[in-house]
Formats: sequence, C-alpha cells, structure tokens
Amino acid sequence: MPFPKDSLYANPLGEVGAFKFDEAVVKVFPDMIQRSVPGYAAIISAIGLLAGRFARDDSVCFDLGCSLGAASLAMRRQIVANNCRVVAVDCSEAMVEQCRKNLADSAVAGVDVVCADIRDIPIENASVVVLNFTLQFIPLADREAFLAKLYRGLLPGGILILSEKLAFDDPRQQELQTEMHHLFKKAQGYSELEISQKRSALENVLIPEAFAVHRQRLKSVGFSSVEVWFQYFNFASMIALKC
Ligand SMILES: C[S@@+](CC[C@H](N)C(=O)[O-])C[C@H]1O[C@@H](n2cnc3c(N)ncnc32)[C@H](O)[C@@H]1O
Repeated sequence: MPFPKDSLYANPLGEVGAFKFDEAVVKVFPDMIQRSVPGYAAIISAIGLLAGRFARDDSVCFDLGCSLGAASLAMRRQIVANNCRVVAVDCSEAMVEQCRKNLADSAVAGVDVVCADIRDIPIENASVVVLNFTLQFIPLADREAFLAKLYRGLLPGGILILSEKLAFDDPRQQELQTEMHHLFKKAQGYSELEISQKRSALENVLIPEAFAVHRQRLKSVGFSSVEVWFQYFNFASMIALKC
C-alpha cells in the first residue's frame, strides 16, 4: 500500500510555524523523507549493510533520532552478530508510537524503542551508532559534547554513520546545491509553494554545517578516520571510525 502523500505545505499557510515532528508529520513522514532527501533509500539500505559488517557479538547498535525506525529495520535485517541489541531512540512521542507499530507489523524482533532526548541517554558498549539526518536538529552548542559522548560509548573498531544536509563555504556552491535540491523536490512532485513554505518552517530548526566542520569536530572528539561515503547534492552520509 502506498504511503499517505505529504501535502502539509500545499496550501498557503499565512504564517508558517516552526517545523515539528508531530502527529501530522508522522502520518506522511515516509513519503516526505523519500521525496525530500535525495538518496534516502540508498542510505537506509547501506546502513543495513554497514551494520551487518560492524555489529559485534554482545554489543549494541544505536539508531539515534530513529523516526519511524527505517534504519533500525535495515540494521536488524542485516545483523548476524549474536546477542546484539538495536536501540532506537527518538524524542517525538508521535514518532515513537508509530515506530513501535511499524516494528510490530514488520515482525522484526530485537529492536528496543525508547522515547528520550538523545543528548540524555547513556551510550555504552556500542559497535554501531547511526545519526541519520538527526544531528542537524541538535543545537550547535551541544553538538561537540554529544559527539564526544558517542565516541566514548563506541567500542574500539566501532563505526558512527552520520548523514546530514550540508552547507557550503563557497556561496556559488551553496546557491547551486540549494537550487539542485529544489529541482529534485520539484521533480518529486512538490510545488514552489510547498518548497518555499517547508524551507521557512525549517529555518533555524535544521542547521546544516559544512563537511569540513563535521570532519574537524569528529576528529577533535577522537575519531581516527572520517570520510563521505555518499553524497547527492547537499545531502551526504559520512563514516567515522574509532580505532
Ligand atoms: C529527519 S528525522 C530522522 C530520520 C530517521 N533517522 C530516518 O532514517 O528515517 C529527525 C528525527 O530526529 C528526532 N530528534 C530531533 N532531535 C532529537 C533529540 N534531541 N533527541 C531525540 N530525537 C530527536 C526527531 O523527532 C525526528 O524524528
């Protein structure tokens, strides 16, 4: 059955409120993220493959900002390690409720879904940590301490998969990549009005940073190696490795 179509910004809203991961968003989220994030399906699929490669026996794989559990499901389907839990965390009660239903419907066992702020939960004994388009919603001032906590919680040989919308230092690149993303959304059926109202809603809510900033901060908290493994216009996914 196709997902309900995202038409949340299809009509003029007058004043556009700040974007929230509420019940209205939850209802259309699978359609919204597929049509808004170039390469989303490929990234989810690769997260599964990476988890299959990096998950260790007797460890934990975290999906932080799990939304409806797409990355958790992909990981669970690929993990062959023994006694390896997947812990999916999101602070939106509406997301968590639907995530639990999705997991039950998929008959995939072994995912614990937690409703919490990812800055507050302990991260321990992790072989895999996924932040799939979540860090961009964490206040800038909290990002370094949060990533340092993830680094400490990862086991030696562990992996952080970090997917983010990117900003660019060069104004020509910033303009071009933004334009290409908007063309991508138009090709997915979004109107100019939908694109512009959604952009207003995300202003000051989703704060993108340049790859160089991500890389520098990941290195400064301890990751020995940081690379982009996927990029499609201004959306990228990085791999950070702990020795
Ligand atoms: C763009 S969605 C992530 C998509 C999801 N990872 C996926 O692969 O489908 C961002 C999610 O992060 C969650 N989020 C944002 N800030 C959070 C925080 N401080 N703690 C927990 N979850 C958070 C939101 O509720 C939302 O569900």
